[in-house]
Amino acid sequence: MRYTDLTPHFVQLHQVQAGEARPELIDGLLDVPARIAPKFLYDALGSRLFDAITELPEYYPTRTEAAVLAQHGASIARHTPDNAVMIDLGAGSCAKAARLFPLLQPSAYVPVDISVDYLRDTLAALQQRHPELPMLGLGMDFSARFALGREATAWLAGRALAEQPRLVFYPGSSIGNFTPDEALLLLRQAHAVCAAGGAGGGLLIGVDRVKPRAVLEPAYDDALGVTAAFNRNLLLHVNRVLGADFAPAAWQHVGLYNADESRIEMHLQARGAQTVRWPGGERAFADGERLHTESSYKWEPEDFEALLCEAGFGPARHWTDAKDWFSVFWAPA
Ligand code: AVJ
Repeated sequence: MRYTDLTPHFVQLHQVQAGEARPELIDGLLDVPARIAPKFLYDALGSRLFDAITELPEYYPTRTEAAVLAQHGASIARHTPDNAVMIDLGAGSCAKAARLFPLLQPSAYVPVDISVDYLRDTLAALQQRHPELPMLGLGMDFSARFALGREATAWLAGRALAEQPRLVFYPGSSIGNFTPDEALLLLRQAHAVCAAGGAGGGLLIGVDRVKPRAVLEPAYDDALGVTAAFNRNLLLHVNRVLGADFAPAAWQHVGLYNADESRIEMHLQARGAQTVRWPGGERAFADGERLHTESSYKWEPEDFEALLCEAGFGPARHWTDAKDWFSVFWAPA
């Protein structure tokens, strides 16, 4: 095998440029209450801080999902297709998908992530460990719109993979970042991607469940302050993208459970009145005023099943842990 065979292919579908992100950021900053989309949590440092969060004692989702996948792996493998093109949404470090390679035996691996540089590094390392598995990295903001696009489709066709079933893998309860209406749109798009491949494809998705506040809140406001750093780092990212002058130390991390909306909310709360400026604009914040940075919806399995059905999927099944904290759904296209 030549060295070039060990280099994964990479397609940048939508350049996530300052130019594109600016209007969206300004729009949110001028809104009342002010908001910044959670995708701005994931610059290179933010992705690493998130990886650190997953190792915190309070942050149960990652390890609970891993336990579900480990415990029910054989059963999951029986329901999912062999030789699928595995499309990994929000792949990050690609570690979760890689752990499933032996079980799911994919014919190709297509990680999708907005944090392009991070994905490029991790994918290159992963390709070295799996030289036989064709890999295509997709740099795109799939929260805006998810489709494989022309280049990726051509890449699959060029490797005789166009007719393979497609398995969309969306772990970690990242679907929780979307409101139920937004989640429905994304799931419909995921369904279209699956349906465009060979028979037997579908969606393998991790979903965090409704549970007591006493478990939920510490998971998003940990004793070490890693989640606080993760939340505040978003301001550094915004400073870079927008040329803004947020002072991260002037913002207090807030992580709370809104039971009425069935969601965790992360906010940054102004420590003292302050004005944030960027080229062409500014926003004044009162002391204690909040900037909403993330929602993380928690689902009852029946409600999520209904959502999958509404998105066009066939009858779903799910596997869970001993405490019923986290479910992994398989929804056939
Ligand atoms: C990656 C969106 C699933 O909502 O639990 C972790 C992000 N935010 N701690 C989540 C997150 C704060 C995480 N998701």
